[in-house]
Amino acid sequence: MTVADAVQAPDGLHVTFGPDGHQAVFTRSWLAGHAAAEVDRRGEDAKRLWSARDFPGGAPVTSWQSYASSDAVRLRCLQDLLDSGFMLLRGVPAEPGAITGVVASFGYIRETNYGQLFDVRVEPTAANLAFTSLPIGPHTDNPYRDPVPTVQLLHCLTNCADGGESGLLDGFRAAAQLRAEDPAAFDRLTSTPVTFGYIDATTDLRATRPMIALNSAGLIREVRYNSRSMEAVRPRSGASAAEAADQMRDFYLAYRAFAAILMRPSLTLRFMLRPGDCVAFDNTRILHSRTGFSTAGRRHLQGCYADIDGVESTVAVLGRSCRRKTVAASLPSAW
Ligand code: FE2
Repeated sequence: MTVADAVQAPDGLHVTFGPDGHQAVFTRSWLAGHAAAEVDRRGEDAKRLWSARDFPGGAPVTSWQSYASSDAVRLRCLQDLLDSGFMLLRGVPAEPGAITGVVASFGYIRETNYGQLFDVRVEPTAANLAFTSLPIGPHTDNPYRDPVPTVQLLHCLTNCADGGESGLLDGFRAAAQLRAEDPAAFDRLTSTPVTFGYIDATTDLRATRPMIALNSAGLIREVRYNSRSMEAVRPRSGASAAEAADQMRDFYLAYRAFAAILMRPSLTLRFMLRPGDCVAFDNTRILHSRTGFSTAGRRHLQGCYADIDGVESTVAVLGRSCRRKTVAASLPSAW
């Protein structure tokens, strides 16, 4: 197919294609919309990076009732989930399975070997730190999956324990901090493949990715950070023993520098999950944590995974619908 003719007109560009003479009109608005460079919506420049001090009043909370009954409120919350990486809903019925209604409001559950839903509570023979009362440092979930679940939800059903404060940390902000303070360490973490793994009697999962992944523009796009599932880093192929030793040292120094930034209290937004609270966050960006708690009182969260493309799609569709309502409301009543 070739362009046989192209004529500018008031309504746009009229193009005639050869060899069959097919004609098409590219409107001015369509052309303008495609003139700007494509933005990677998952990259750091499309996000609002934050530290805890950006939320002086604590984590912003929206009632489930208003979220579920208003498209405009749901749009704002889901846009926050894309921009800041999380949203916190209050008043979701504190009943097992109610989390599925939250997921259904923007997408679909990502079922894994842990099932559609999983329960986070103290178990007598815990196979995972999550099922104890011990503190858990900042991490992303399931870095051993490819693709990794891009959204995680945690819904509090019971919390009578002392302690067990939840924490969220902007991994993009922390990675940007590392880039500013120690560019060599940042380069090392963006260029060294790290293998994460999970094995039990019925499952054997491994994924190899850099701890900080960049997009084609060199911008931060994904963080995988989980010391419990990270395997020992291997030397590059063909490296001599001396080169391998240098690579190991440089990687682990960089890893330690990043870990030291993640441990800064100023980065972690802390809050207590109460029954009916449901937090959803971008698992490719936001690291989550919890402090230890007393086992004298029960603490039971229900969780699941979902995907961020569903959030993006819902935001786009709700945005169209809200814009239509705004236009309709501004039209003269005689129309
Ligand atoms: Fe986790």
